[in-house]
Amino acid sequence: MILITGGAGFIGSHTAVALLEAGYEIAVLDNLSNSSEESLKRIKSITGKDFPFYYVDLLDYVATDRVFRENKIDAVIHFAGLKAVGESVTMPLEYYHNNITGTLNLCMIMKRRGVKKLVFSSSATVYGFAEKVPVTEDMPTSTTNPYGSTKLMIENILKDLFVSDGDWSIALLRYFNPIGAHKSGMLGENPNGIPNNLMPRICSVVLGKMDKMTIWGTDYETHDGTGVRDYIHVLDLAQGHIAALKKCDSDKGVFTYNLGTGTGYSVLDLLDTFSRVNNVEIPRVSMPRRPGDVESLYADCTKAKEELGWEAKLGLEDMCRDSYNFIIKNPKGYNN
Ligand code: WQD
Repeated sequence: MILITGGAGFIGSHTAVALLEAGYEIAVLDNLSNSSEESLKRIKSITGKDFPFYYVDLLDYVATDRVFRENKIDAVIHFAGLKAVGESVTMPLEYYHNNITGTLNLCMIMKRRGVKKLVFSSSATVYGFAEKVPVTEDMPTSTTNPYGSTKLMIENILKDLFVSDGDWSIALLRYFNPIGAHKSGMLGENPNGIPNNLMPRICSVVLGKMDKMTIWGTDYETHDGTGVRDYIHVLDLAQGHIAALKKCDSDKGVFTYNLGTGTGYSVLDLLDTFSRVNNVEIPRVSMPRRPGDVESLYADCTKAKEELGWEAKLGLEDMCRDSYNFIIKNPKGYNN
């Protein structure tokens, strides 16, 4: 059985569907702080399969341990964590406590119960202001906000854990910019509150919740002056987790992988593609750069292709079409 922490969330729920469809048994642990039980019902509806759900916060050691007592957990995919960059700057203590202590509780329970296969949801944000692009996994890491620091600290904690006990198999997955939605339109990105990221904000404008898009910075040294990122379809990301799980099944060690497409697209590329494939207008206004933003960040994914046999298959048009399909079918997210 695979335990998915944060399995009710955006990437977690899509990974849960992929695991069930690949024949895995799963259990989901989630405190629903940035997700809803509705996504769990939709996972069951899409796959026709059932699974146990534990409404548990990883900060609750006893409740988390109960999940391992009640199920034979073979491996864990660990998504649960706070993830808003801007918010982390205003609430660092909550971010460090939630993300680090939660992970320490999880790992201590896993160690005590002999569960030593872990896939960790890390982030490309650990590359900080990368010297050059595309970035490879051996490039220097640095962080510019508490959220990114929690991800880098957890990567280092897990490396130290392996040094202390060579019996562990740990995959550190550095996501770039996950967007898109399940092809059915039943699962998608459903952020609570006002979104920060580009795609959810485009969706808010298209739904009329915001009157125009703000383009943060048009004076970057990029092909059109706007910021460049490596957008990856959440369905490709889900498959990357299955590939990493198989790696943990076959080898012991700590393995770090970029999960991106290897192609960088600008803000205007995304806006114009979204508008074209969905035949919608997206009013916009240009503003100065957003503090903390890097100019350009996209992945070299050679290592994941060579070692995991994984590569992204869906393109920007799929990401835009599928995100739009989800919001049209769920204008109020999971609160329809
Ligand atoms: C993308 C581009 C903005 C909003 C963050 C985290 C990263 C990961 C993904 C968790 C940038 C521009 C954005 C808007 C804009 N999260 N933009 N107008 O900052 O690349 O990455 O989310 O792991 O860790 O750092 O994503 O979507 O916020 O920004 O112009 O209203 O879109 O300037 O160039 P980012 P983003």
